[in-house]
Amino acid sequence: ARIVVLVSGSGSNLQALLDAAADPAYGARVVAVGADRDGIAGLDRAAAVGVPTFVERVKDHPTRADWDAALTRQVAAHRPDLVVSAGFLKLVGPEFLAAFGDRYLNTHNTLLPAFPGIHGPRDALAYGVKITGATLFFVDAGMDTGPIVAQVAVPVCDDDDEETLTERIKSAERRQLVEQVGRLVREGWTITGRKVTVP
Ligand code: GRF
Repeated sequence: ARIVVLVSGSGSNLQALLDAAADPAYGARVVAVGADRDGIAGLDRAAAVGVPTFVERVKDHPTRADWDAALTRQVAAHRPDLVVSAGFLKLVGPEFLAAFGDRYLNTHNTLLPAFPGIHGPRDALAYGVKITGATLFFVDAGMDTGPIVAQVAVPVCDDDDEETLTERIKSAERRQLVEQVGRLVREGWTITGRKVTVP
């Protein structure tokens, strides 16, 4: 299977996928990595293993819809079976979702539907929950609202700060992402309403 990964930052989730895909038995390879900004480690990680990269910045387009169309074209050019948002900090638009909506995964660093948005671990800590985690889901038009593929629970420790909690979540999140992407590409999936079924 062909995977395109979208990133906005450090790309540690991307790295986990690149490492897993180095084994042909994994069933998927990362054919391209896209970003919404330059100069991020995620792009360097792709380049280091010879995976093509592309950048589409919102500010280079007259409207958000034009950016969405350009991003859709860039991703489509690599003919992906699955697109994975791994720390991609932009909400895609209708054109992207029309093209990839049933095969666009995102990983979020809380147990959804609690604490959507970009400060998930900070918000979980501030609320005082004792268990949080990571959620892998298919993206729909909302923010962090799509049908859930898998979740992993992570304890919150009494002495956690935002950084220690974020790191504990991320290590569980990377394992889940690698396992579940492998399962999806090897076995296939159907989405019926909010239910994701892997045969
Ligand atoms: C992940 O924890 C993801 O849930 C959040 O941003 C992080 C991305 O980290 N939205 P990385 O770029 O894969 O290291």
